[in-house]
Amino acid sequence: MAVIADRCPQVQVTVVDLNAERIAAWNDPDLNQLPVYEPGLDAVVGRARGRNLHFSTAVEEAIAQADLVFISVNTPTKTRGLGAGQASDLRWVEASARTVAKAAQGHTIVVEKSTLPVRTAAVIQEILEAAEGSGPSAQQVGKTFSVLSNPEFLAEGTAIADLEHPDRVLIGGQDPQAIEALAALYRHWVPAERILTTNLWSSELSKLTANAFLAQRISSINGIAAFCEATGADVREVACAIGADSRIGSRFLQAGPGFGGSCFQKDILNLVYLCRHYGLGEVAAYWEQVVTLNHWQQRRIARLVITKLFGTVSGKRIGVLGFAFKADTNDTRESPAIRICRHLLEEGAILQIVDPKVSERQMALDLGQPAGSGDGSWHQVPDVLQAASGADALLLLTEWQTFSRIDWPAVAEVMRRPAWLFDARAKADGAAARAAGLNVWTVGEG
Ligand code: UGA
Repeated sequence: MAVIADRCPQVQVTVVDLNAERIAAWNDPDLNQLPVYEPGLDAVVGRARGRNLHFSTAVEEAIAQADLVFISVNTPTKTRGLGAGQASDLRWVEASARTVAKAAQGHTIVVEKSTLPVRTAAVIQEILEAAEGSGPSAQQVGKTFSVLSNPEFLAEGTAIADLEHPDRVLIGGQDPQAIEALAALYRHWVPAERILTTNLWSSELSKLTANAFLAQRISSINGIAAFCEATGADVREVACAIGADSRIGSRFLQAGPGFGGSCFQKDILNLVYLCRHYGLGEVAAYWEQVVTLNHWQQRRIARLVITKLFGTVSGKRIGVLGFAFKADTNDTRESPAIRICRHLLEEGAILQIVDPKVSERQMALDLGQPAGSGDGSWHQVPDVLQAASGADALLLLTEWQTFSRIDWPAVAEVMRRPAWLFDARAKADGAAARAAGLNVWTVGEG
């Protein structure tokens, strides 16, 4: 919404949320205090806020004034009831649709921005239709709605660039006028040929499919990485060789500790659930394997660390480099670091975790225990040197740029020998670490 406001100065954009604390944070005069860390976002918000970008808790008022309403609430995996563990929990979407139905005035275009299971637009449409025709008074025109699907393809860490130069914008819908109104917004900065229009269901399904294909590439390369380690091949050479084939392409072939983030796993499980619902058991099993392999990769790395440290990590210090699910974000949702650290904590390790953006509070929530001391405990440290202090191993889990510039002789000095570097992202200077006397394991290197 900040980028839309930035690129369309004549359009008034109001972001509303029930959470007053969050809205206050978005209104904080200090742009460093925004609730989301995303490179470049502070500048965009700085340009548009107060001009045509507003953050407010006056939800119904803003809806009443709006020509377009974007529903951008979260759709986590259901934790209980029908479809628990796979289906998306649509309670926030439904609640939002009901609020829009109640508060809208005149004609309102309702845009699904949240990632939703296929045919969710029908649910939103039904809720809105129940309110159609009703108006605040007999003199005023009754309300009417058009529903569009406009999934988001940005990735965290590169969100601003992805939004400013998208590969494509996708708009699904049945009402040509509504599609045109939304497309006109994007045409302020997106070339017309990159704005694709489809029917509602294709648009909803394209989002799930895009994420499933991306995640599948990661599980594929991680599977091959394990095979490389077993055979003496090098996964980076293999990725480079296969990526040179233009039909395969070179992106999204980096082996690592498995994919994290709020979407890949959730969207694939949702796809799996829907395939089963429609009687497509084989298709469901095929995609489910992408998630299975992802978890396997995380267990494999934890087990490997334990094995190399003579079969036990109990009471041993391990420095963990990176906790976010990828670099340049403070987001830890489904971060591979969570599963791997939990395995090591269960085995009694003492984890010294460093991450440039993740708070201790967030780590405590994710690891299910507060910072502490003794066997099976973790605590946060401010830099790599302190993560290494007294440690038998360093485990690199997030590809922060700073981890490629480690002073290995200084680090080796403070570690206990024999010392290990386990580089699950192939980000560190392995040769320098070896030269400083460490044993080095790099993902996918045989
Ligand atoms: C992903 C998609 O890339 C976006 O297109 C989509 O809009 C978004 O999900 C969403 O649905 O919200 P995001 O999760 O922010 O974006 O980040 P990615 O860059 O896709 O990375 C996801 C995970 O895969 C990270 O843990 C990353 O480290 C890992 N990854 C990525 C690899 O292990 N190897 C790679 O080659 C690429």
